[in-house]
Amino acid sequence: MAEKKQSDSLIIFVNGKKITVSNADPETTLLYFLRERLQLTGTKYGCGGGGCGVCTVMVSRYDVQTKGIHHLSINACLMPICQLHGAAVTTVEGIGNTKTRLHPVQERIAKTHGSQCGFCTPGMVMSMYTLLRNKPKPTMEDITEALGGNLCRCTGYRPIIDGYRTFCENDNCCQLNNSLCLMSNENGSLELDKNCQLDFFNKEDFLPLDPTQELIFPPELIRMAESQEQTTQMFQGERITWISPITLGELVQLKAQYPQAPIVMGNTNVGLDIKFKGVLHPIIISPTRVGELFEVNQKPEGLCIGAGCSLSTVRSVLERCVCSLPVEHTQTYAALLEQLRHVGGQQIRNVATLGGNIVSAYPNSDLNPVLAAGRCSLLVQTKDGKQEIPLDKNFFVGFGKTILKPDQLVLSVFIPVSRKGEVVCALRHAPRKENALATVTTGMRVWFHDGSDVVKEMSAYYGGVGACTFSAERMIQQVIGRPWNEATLNEAYRALVDEVILEVSAPGGKVMFRRSLTLSLLFRFYLHVLQYLKDMSVTGVGVPEDQRSGVRPLPCVIEPGYQEFQEVAEVQVEQDPVGRSKLHRSAITHATGESVYCDDIPHIQGELFLSVVTSTRAHAKIIQIDVSRALDMPGVVDVITAKDIPGQKFRSFTGTEEELLAEHEVTCVGQMVCAVVADTKQHAKLAAAALKVSYEDLPERIFTIEEAVERQSFYLPHRELQRGDVDKAFQEVDHIHEGEMRVGGQEHFYLETQSMLVVPVREQKEMKVYLSSQNPTCTQISVAETLGIPANRVSCHVKRIGGAFGGKLTKASILASITAVAAWKTDRPVRWVLERGEDMLITGGRHPVLGKYKVGFMNDGKIIAADIQYFASAGNTADETLLVIEKMLIHMDIAYNIPNLHGQSMACNTNLPSSTAFRGFGGPQSMMVIENMINDVAMLLGCPAEEMRERNFYKGLSLTHYKMEFHPENLHRCWEECKERAEFGRRRQAIVEFNQQNRWKKRGISLVPIKYGIGFGNAVLQQAAALVHIYKDGSVLVSHGGIEMGQGIHTKVQQIVSRELNIPLSLIHISETCTSAVPNTCPTAASFGTDANGMAVWDACQTLYKRLEPIRKKDPNGSWESWIAKAFVERISLSATGFYRGHEVGMDWQKQEGRPFTYFTYAACCSEVELDCLTGEYRTVRTDIVVDVGKSINPAIDIGQIEGAFMQGLGLYTMEELTFSPSGSLHTRGPAQYKIPAVCDVPLQFNVYLLSGSQNPYAIHSSKGIGEPIVCLGSSVFFAMKEAITAARTDVGLSGPFPLHSPATPERACLACNTCFTQMIPKTKAGTPWAMELP
Ligand SMILES: Cc1cc2nc3c(=O)[nH]c(=O)nc-3n(C[C@H](O)[C@H](O)[C@H](O)COP(=O)(O)OP(=O)(O)OC[C@H]3O[C@@H](n4cnc5c(N)ncnc54)[C@H](O)[C@@H]3O)c2cc1C
Ligand code: FES
Ligand code: FES
Repeated sequence: MAEKKQSDSLIIFVNGKKITVSNADPETTLLYFLRERLQLTGTKYGCGGGGCGVCTVMVSRYDVQTKGIHHLSINACLMPICQLHGAAVTTVEGIGNTKTRLHPVQERIAKTHGSQCGFCTPGMVMSMYTLLRNKPKPTMEDITEALGGNLCRCTGYRPIIDGYRTFCENDNCCQLNNSLCLMSNENGSLELDKNCQLDFFNKEDFLPLDPTQELIFPPELIRMAESQEQTTQMFQGERITWISPITLGELVQLKAQYPQAPIVMGNTNVGLDIKFKGVLHPIIISPTRVGELFEVNQKPEGLCIGAGCSLSTVRSVLERCVCSLPVEHTQTYAALLEQLRHVGGQQIRNVATLGGNIVSAYPNSDLNPVLAAGRCSLLVQTKDGKQEIPLDKNFFVGFGKTILKPDQLVLSVFIPVSRKGEVVCALRHAPRKENALATVTTGMRVWFHDGSDVVKEMSAYYGGVGACTFSAERMIQQVIGRPWNEATLNEAYRALVDEVILEVSAPGGKVMFRRSLTLSLLFRFYLHVLQYLKDMSVTGVGVPEDQRSGVRPLPCVIEPGYQEFQEVAEVQVEQDPVGRSKLHRSAITHATGESVYCDDIPHIQGELFLSVVTSTRAHAKIIQIDVSRALDMPGVVDVITAKDIPGQKFRSFTGTEEELLAEHEVTCVGQMVCAVVADTKQHAKLAAAALKVSYEDLPERIFTIEEAVERQSFYLPHRELQRGDVDKAFQEVDHIHEGEMRVGGQEHFYLETQSMLVVPVREQKEMKVYLSSQNPTCTQISVAETLGIPANRVSCHVKRIGGAFGGKLTKASILASITAVAAWKTDRPVRWVLERGEDMLITGGRHPVLGKYKVGFMNDGKIIAADIQYFASAGNTADETLLVIEKMLIHMDIAYNIPNLHGQSMACNTNLPSSTAFRGFGGPQSMMVIENMINDVAMLLGCPAEEMRERNFYKGLSLTHYKMEFHPENLHRCWEECKERAEFGRRRQAIVEFNQQNRWKKRGISLVPIKYGIGFGNAVLQQAAALVHIYKDGSVLVSHGGIEMGQGIHTKVQQIVSRELNIPLSLIHISETCTSAVPNTCPTAASFGTDANGMAVWDACQTLYKRLEPIRKKDPNGSWESWIAKAFVERISLSATGFYRGHEVGMDWQKQEGRPFTYFTYAACCSEVELDCLTGEYRTVRTDIVVDVGKSINPAIDIGQIEGAFMQGLGLYTMEELTFSPSGSLHTRGPAQYKIPAVCDVPLQFNVYLLSGSQNPYAIHSSKGIGEPIVCLGSSVFFAMKEAITAARTDVGLSGPFPLHSPATPERACLACNTCFTQMIPKTKAGTPWAMELP
């Protein structure tokens, strides 16, 4: 068996084709196999750890027992190829394509504008496809659950949900010409503005779902499963041997022979250890074909479930039991079901096993506390026989450790039925409602003496409060033998406080919060049981009316979204697409997986892969880089250090130099030191891990803004803006208030990590660079300077990028330059695709900001003076920080005319990874500080915040604080319309009543405005060029300097070309953005891409159209094609360049005045939230946004930008939290630790209205830039939460301003509520915390 040397062959079917794999390597994942071996690149890499869903595929298997076929969505990144013998894999390419036919799942996500950058789209498609294979008429709950494990950073999910809603039996979206919509009045009739145009999509146009058309399960696999003599399989890889036994006997033997070998089932734990912790298991045992592990037996005394059953299977088994057994027997089953809904995403639950979850013994396993509380036991087998082991307080002995011996195998789990008088409950809190490991999770059980409320038995297990599942023994002792009432529980809380001790350094941090959660979850259990006793007629009390909100869940049903925008004029010809909601030009190929991203470019002969070595020290001297071990490792070709750089060794973006590779000193953890190039990614990665760098720590380390200020560690110059006389005004005001606001950083979390491929042409030192960048010219120059060659030898090519948000501006050029050095030195093509963890560590994110304010105001709320100081944490390099701090000052007035306003901004130089550009470029941080200041003023005056905002608005023709003239009329229109659309007055009143009636749930509503300057604020960066070719057949190829990153620039440009040349969209193509076609491009950023490039393209089209005029005049009835043919014969050039010089914009920082923008985009947003005061969890109940985008070139695309930016803002201000260790090492390096909004975070009602009748003389076709401004409006959720928290604080007698920093995570929100539970937690003793308090 194990001695067998030869690897077996593996048979799988991929998209209906049989594939026999000889020499399968156990380290090969399905994702790698699909992408690298089969070139099926539709399935993407996003995180490698099961957390993002972009690698979702469907795996189908035949079940010999039931003779049925099971379809499962799974994460290909965690699935070892060796696990798939006998399975059929369906990828996005297998269900439809543009050459044959589209699948309805692909068509609908595309046609309902559910795809922007498209990187997440294949994963979404496959999750939905699998759902429909199993359930052709799903419910909305099925859909949100199926998509719960798929992240999207662009769309805000609303269009995806609404698109897929069309598969539901009873979808009732007005846009589908069906029953009611959000805008219907009480009689059900629509109250739509005349301008409203509901043509986003029409259900009638969709392909019907026809299950008979689906790919059939390969009959050969059925025959294989039914007839073939199954044998033990062995796969021998470079480092690992994989053994897959058939019988239990063999398995037991193997376990005895290799006790240290893991049992790999779902691989969701072992896989992560191998990938992220570098754990090596020379032998792996995979018993997925051992039938005994999957047996399920229902007996009167309980349920026996095979340890190999997946969590999805466990769930269906439990659901069946709950339906068929009396309620009194199903308490534990129901509690487990409650937990199972939340474990990972669907893809994880489909593979992760019950046994794996138990044995992994995660400290925050959701199942273990319930299984332990529910008196479960394990049937364990060794070669010496079987044994039953109780899963109780003695079972878990440490982090990832149980009392099981290495050779013990868990065969099954016994879950007893609950008894009469027994109540079992599972409660958890996680940083995100779905697909997030719990912060604290519990399983609690209480058993009463017959017909009484006196407790006979109790158990309470907590996860997330220590190294392993914890039994609250002392607390239980306070309860047993006593009646279930408040007095007993008060004793219990006290005992719990004493026994759940978390040191300040406890892994995971959040010490106060976690401790308070143990109490509030116990309280929730108490209420639950109280109601049970009432329902059983044991007591007459039940849950008091005012406490009911303690057990009621937050609302969660997502309604269809509503969008409204202006129709094009009736006179506009049908063919003219400008102003119409045209599909994103690549939406369909995104959905079929045919769109090509950087890493989808096929491998080139001789290609190498790069892996980087980063600093492990925050500030240290490099003593030695020992490359010898790395060079000796298999496949390694070379190691690249700073010494290998032939040209300039640094980059400089705003004046300060940034080394490409550190040579003598490192200044943050994550700084790049050297790189390894090898024949495969795996070899490069292993060698990089083996490479030794020795350091000598330097004493000075600066992490916080306070430390930087204290040591005057700044990048100069500081910036300052002043209007009026602040000091004088402070002497005249009625009140003065001082406060501060911290806005945390944010990770871009574009789904496509930074990627590049550099190909030396081997002739005249030419280099071709294919990459994912917003700024190809910057990369071109950077590569040229790094290699010491002229820029004309370097061409940069960007076809599309899978999201960027500012993160692929400067950093991409540094990464590409390092890759270019490797290609230069080895004279071979070199590819580098960053892993998610590397990307998060190296490339930095949004600047964390500390804002301090002093505000002077009158009794009527008019703010007369404000003095603001912004400190931005720039990190270890300046990058673009100086521009960011300028933008912060420029945007500090938001919509408010504060007559005496003084602002200063400073860039702190710290030993953290360098911050960089991020959507909004300082604006979202800046406005947050000011809005918080206004909120404080409102609280001090006891006045609603929106009234305070209105009172301070700019009115009439105005001057900004830097003396730019503008008229705020459209801002006021957005504000008023938003108020009206959102029914603000009525809902504010309803909220007051709600808050009076509910102690533990509070609602809040907030309305915020934004006036956002569009463009770079620098005339040089606002130029653009274009090149338009018309070919002899009449087709048109457009090149321009803008990058397609999901924002739809190419689609809008096509629309512009279509109008100018008067030809259909189908004749126009944009292939890529390339520095050889259009030189000296400016970055695609600052919401200015279409403004600039649209104008350049327009200019080129004008030239061409004029050239064709004589021909058109001669033959007015001719076709476009005939004119072009004629023009060629008449030797008229059919190629033209276009140029846009941009407007004269800029700031004079000496004079503190200027006109940095030509125009503003205005908007207003109203959000309402419901907050759970016991856990700090919240739900956005409704959001209404009114935006002035001028005359939208493409309303669907603009609304997509609005919804996506809003969700990114919601993430910034309420969820996304970066944490660093006290030594400056980033903890949050993937979706497991860093939570971006998911489907569950979409506002339950999400309505977007584009302001009608707006014009903009400064941009193409009267449109306005929209990419960034709406991020700021995510703050409406923050302030709605703050209002809800204020209501909770009022209940405990607190009033007035209070600190709540951004993001308002559940931890911050819960602690700010200051409930009796948080008050019970004593202050933690001083010590080194697990995570630093930043910024
Ligand atoms: C993205 C993601 C999200 C997650 N979210 C949650 C969550 O919200 N809540 C939660 O509780 N968990 C969560 N998990 C953890 C997940 O539930 C566990 O990793 C999973 O249940 C382990 O099962 P597996 O089959 O994948 O184990 P594997 O990785 O295959 O094995 C894990 C360990 O269990 C041992 N083992 C497995 N089966 C047996 C057996 N029969 N006998 C003896 N030893 C055995 C193996 O030797 C190995 O040491 C998440 C995991 C991921 C990747
Ligand atoms: S890449 Fe597989 S889940 Fe992220
Ligand atoms: S479209 Fe979803 S990540 Fe870009």
